[in-house]
Amino acid sequence: MDNIFDNWRSLLEEYEKNLFSDKKDKRLQDWIQILTDLPSMRSSSVSFNNKVSVFGSWNGNDQQITNKLLLKLLPWRKGPFLIQDIFIDSEWKSDLKWTRFLDLGVNLLDKTILDVGSGNGYYAFRMLEQGAKNIICLEPNLNFYTQFLAMNHFFKVDNLRMIPERIESLKFSEHNFDVIFSMGLLYHQKDPSDHLKQLSLHLKSGGTLVIETIVIPPNHNEILTPEDRYANMPNVRFLHTEKGLDKLVEDEGFEIIGSSHPVATTIYEQRSTEWMPFRSFESAIQVNNPKLTVENLPAPSRKFLVLKK
Ligand SMILES: C[S@@+](CC[C@H](N)C(=O)[O-])C[C@H]1O[C@@H](n2cnc3c(N)ncnc32)[C@H](O)[C@@H]1O
Repeated sequence: MDNIFDNWRSLLEEYEKNLFSDKKDKRLQDWIQILTDLPSMRSSSVSFNNKVSVFGSWNGNDQQITNKLLLKLLPWRKGPFLIQDIFIDSEWKSDLKWTRFLDLGVNLLDKTILDVGSGNGYYAFRMLEQGAKNIICLEPNLNFYTQFLAMNHFFKVDNLRMIPERIESLKFSEHNFDVIFSMGLLYHQKDPSDHLKQLSLHLKSGGTLVIETIVIPPNHNEILTPEDRYANMPNVRFLHTEKGLDKLVEDEGFEIIGSSHPVATTIYEQRSTEWMPFRSFESAIQVNNPKLTVENLPAPSRKFLVLKK
């Protein structure tokens, strides 16, 4: 990765030397074994469009071995990926969200990008298709981090890296990035304003912040705080109306330069599959009223904001 800043370079080198550094998890040895056992593919082409794909040729029964190893990394929440004939049909059709982002016309060409809470890196691969120069992903979930390492075993891109850290755990903050993404994070934060401040600390002057989050209908008076679970998720702390979201970002000194219309999540976009066989959106909404979650709260719609500081 060329032209990357010293503090980031040191952190990247730490994780290059030792994939999991000092992280602790009882699955660590399994993950290392899976990554070690992944067969090589003689790849002839990669493509970072809707299905992030690599095509090439396998030796012997390497395809079956790969399929089995990748299934051990369940749940695959973001995708789809296509590794030759192995179609990783993830829980989310993440290409739909990415199309909504592309409609906003944000220029990623030659940009240095930070994707905070990147999941397994599906969107970061899509950023390469838009000509991004360098992308660093931050993703503390070690299973998703391992999925990224497994995918990049086949894609072999070197201007996209993932670091398994939370943004607030970084020991440095410099205004390094042209574009920062925070997609699907705001409603999980203890303090959404603080999250915006953290993101802002890494954004270059004049840089672009892309926020994607859940919004609820206007009759809810700016913010709703679920008492317990929301759409079956245990860790949703705040839900904003569009007005509440605008106020939140403006209070942090951001100017809204673009936005998408709220789009309701459906079981077409988020559902259980062979690659994410646990319960999904179909069990999060009421059978007779898709406008309400099983907790009787407004069903999620998702919206993008494009911001300048
Ligand atoms: C709902 S997922 C969204 C994934 C992806 N960005 C998307 O839009 O589909 C939120 C992700 O953010 C990660 N995350 C949560 N808090 C974070 C933090 N403070 N810093 C970095 N990542 C975080 C979680 O591990 C999780 O994978």
